[in-house]
Amino acid sequence: MTTNSIHGMWSSRLMFILAASGSAVGLGNIWRFPYVAGENGGGAFVMVYLVCIFLIGIPIMVSEIIIGRSARKSPINAMAAAASKSAVSMKWQLVGWMGVVAGFMILSFYAVIAGWVLSYVFQLGSGVFTDSSSELAEGIFSNFVGNVWEVLAWFTIFLVSTILITARGVSSGLEVAVKYLMPILFCLLIALVIYSATTSGHFMEGANFLFSLNFEKLTWNSILVAMGQAFFTLSLGMGAIMAYGAYMPKDASVIGTATTIALMDTGVALMSGLVIFPLVFANGLESAAGPGLMFITLPLAFGQMAGGQLFGCIFFVLVAFAAITSAISLIEPAIAWIVEKQKTSRHTAALTVGGCVWLLGLGSVFSTNIWSDVFIFDDMTFLDSMDYFTNNIILPLGGIFIAVFAGWVLSNKILDNELMHDGRYYPIWKFLCRFIAPVGVSVVFIMALLQGK
Ligand code: TRP
Repeated sequence: MTTNSIHGMWSSRLMFILAASGSAVGLGNIWRFPYVAGENGGGAFVMVYLVCIFLIGIPIMVSEIIIGRSARKSPINAMAAAASKSAVSMKWQLVGWMGVVAGFMILSFYAVIAGWVLSYVFQLGSGVFTDSSSELAEGIFSNFVGNVWEVLAWFTIFLVSTILITARGVSSGLEVAVKYLMPILFCLLIALVIYSATTSGHFMEGANFLFSLNFEKLTWNSILVAMGQAFFTLSLGMGAIMAYGAYMPKDASVIGTATTIALMDTGVALMSGLVIFPLVFANGLESAAGPGLMFITLPLAFGQMAGGQLFGCIFFVLVAFAAITSAISLIEPAIAWIVEKQKTSRHTAALTVGGCVWLLGLGSVFSTNIWSDVFIFDDMTFLDSMDYFTNNIILPLGGIFIAVFAGWVLSNKILDNELMHDGRYYPIWKFLCRFIAPVGVSVVFIMALLQGK
């Protein structure tokens, strides 16, 4: 069995945890979780999301790590290697291909939202939000996203930074970002929760919205969205964690590591919700405001607090870093594959991938301005459609394949070897992977399809 990857290795188990949490914690937690929870009625949605994290997400994360680590190659080649070692069809590597395509699609809109975040660093720093009203904050947001050149410029800056970091390799750069910036982000979020709890006057209303179960609002489509959010937030279903798993040291418990990552990620998402919803209610905003939610509530709050201009600016800088450590993992599978296949340098590979993502991303750049009335599915713009299609369809589908592959196909020799530090959790993982994850995802798919939107 190979022990090292040609792309380099994480220096320790902790480094893997940091890198994988860097991938998991991102816009999905701070921007997407609150707004999809808001659009889908809160409490019951959040519960379904949590169930999906634990019963489906963690087992699939473990599967991705096992497959990646046993092969020490990019997801496409890791799937091929694992299939050949288990003596099954090489078609399984199509799962790796699907993941590469999904990564391009996700990054193409992810980088646009991250561009919004970058621009907000400067908007907050400039003090335009000081003592602003909700109308003003809403106005600033819609003016900004309506300006095609500005959105394009910030999107490009974000994507170029991602490409530059990725080109340098997995450990330099990334290690620093996750080791120092993530803990600071965590602390700032805690401070914001406390601020929201003590000053908004609507903390309980916000907490109730997030945690009280009202099942009337729960449709099969919102269950699908909750499940999609669980995949998205844990970076599952497209090989990102598989790619990172390939650089993970051998002597670490896989299930324990995956659970740690999932708990951290969930903690950040719930905290973001606890910051944002009290502010929504305190300022008479709409909980179902959609993708702009974070860009309106947070600047408002920073505008009202002492020192908010500085804190707001720092907060958005940290969110931008969280986004970049996630963005890197979205293209790592493609880049690692190109390096393995073409024997080209990481630089060339990163540049090629970046160029493709930039072109595709133009559709999302235009979605809030010149193409704001171009709808692809139903009433969804290009950006919304990319987001909906990747998160709710491709990732869960990739997840089913990965779970079935790890649970039913992968040889016992590989499993025993990879899970030797996991003792009594091994059978539980196997059960969830074989039955609960594939059946759960399939049922949600079928019901959502039957029920329509
Ligand atoms: N999990 C990241 C977030 O929450 C986004 C992300 C990074 C991702 N890599 C991924 C999502 C792979 C799906 C698949 O912001």
